[in-house]
Amino acid sequence: MTEGGIRTVGVVGLGAMGAGIAQLAIEAGFATIGHELDADAGEAARVRITHFLARKVDKGQLAAEARDAALDRLRLSSDLSELAACEVVIEAAFEDLAVKHELFRALEAVVPDETILATNTSALSVTEIASVLELPERAVGMHFFNPAPLMPLVEIVRAERTAAPVAAAARAFGIALGKTPIDCSDTPGFVVNRVLIPLLNDCVRVLDEAGITPEDLDAGMKLGAGWPMGPCTLLDLVGVDVHVHASDALYDKLREPRMAPPARLVRMFKAGKLGRKSGEGFYRYD
Ligand code: CAA
Repeated sequence: MTEGGIRTVGVVGLGAMGAGIAQLAIEAGFATIGHELDADAGEAARVRITHFLARKVDKGQLAAEARDAALDRLRLSSDLSELAACEVVIEAAFEDLAVKHELFRALEAVVPDETILATNTSALSVTEIASVLELPERAVGMHFFNPAPLMPLVEIVRAERTAAPVAAAARAFGIALGKTPIDCSDTPGFVVNRVLIPLLNDCVRVLDEAGITPEDLDAGMKLGAGWPMGPCTLLDLVGVDVHVHASDALYDKLREPRMAPPARLVRMFKAGKLGRKSGEGFYRYD
C-alpha cells in the first residue's frame, strides 16, 4: 500500500503524543479517528488540539476555514471496532509491553488484513510488540518526537518481520504528515533516543556534580551548545516519568551505566514531580 491509499487514520491513545499525531493527521487532510477508553481524556485531547490550531489562526499560519475543516475531520471513539475503517492505525498508548500486546491483538481482530499497524513506541522493541500479531509483517514503528506537531522528524522503524512495502508506505505517510523520515532498524532507542537519553542523563548528573542550578545548566546548553531549549526544560516537557521509563528500558537492554536514570530523576518521579503535566518538575508551572 502506498500513502496514496490512506484515507482514514486511527490514533490509539490521545495523551500528549497521540493528540499531537492526531493534530498532524487532520491538518494533513486525513479523516482521523482518535481512540481513548476514557471519554474525558478524549475530550481533553480535542480541547488541546483546538487550542493549538486556534493559536495558528491567531498568528496567521492557518486560515479559520482550514482550522474548522481540520477539526471536522477528527472523530473521537472509545470503541476499538470503529478503527476497522482505517488504512493505518498509530498506537500511542502507555509504554508497557503487556498493554501494547493487548491493543495489537484487539486491533488485529477488527481491522482488515491490509491495515498498517504502527507503534509510536520510543523505547520498546517493535519486533516484540508485533510478535503477538497473526500478520507481524504489517507492523512498523513510526516514532514521533515531542511536541509532535513541531518536531520535523519521524523515525521509520523496520522490525524483524516488517514487510518492505509497509515500511515504504509508513515513510510516504510520514512525508504526507509533513515530517522528514529516517529509516532505521529495531535497535534499542532506535537512533535519536539512543543518543539523547544518555545525554540528558549526563546533564542531570552534572547538576549535582557541578553544584549548579537548572537555570544555569539550561543557559549553558542553550548558549554554549546551541540547544533550542535547555535539558531541564526539555525533561519537564517530555515528562520525567516518560524519560525515567525510557531510560530504564534502554538500560535493561544495553546495560550501559549512562542509560540508567540518575537518582535525582528517580526521586522526582517518585515524588510526582513529572514536569509540565504535574505542574512541577525542575521548574514550576501555573
Ligand atoms: N503541540 C502543538 N503545538 C504546540 C505545542 C504542542 N505540544 N507546543 C507549542 N505549540 C505551538 C504553540 O501554539 C506555540 O505558539 P504560542 O506559544 O504562540 O501559542 C507554537 O507551537 C510555537 O511554539 P514556540 O514558540 O515554543 O516554538 P519554538 O520556536 O520556541 O520551538 C520547540 C519550540 C520546537 C519545542 C523547540 O524549543 C525545540 O526544538 N525544542 C527541543 C524539543 C526536543 O528536543 N524534543 C525531543 C524530545 S525527545 C522525544 O520526544 C523522544 C521521546 O521518545 C520521548
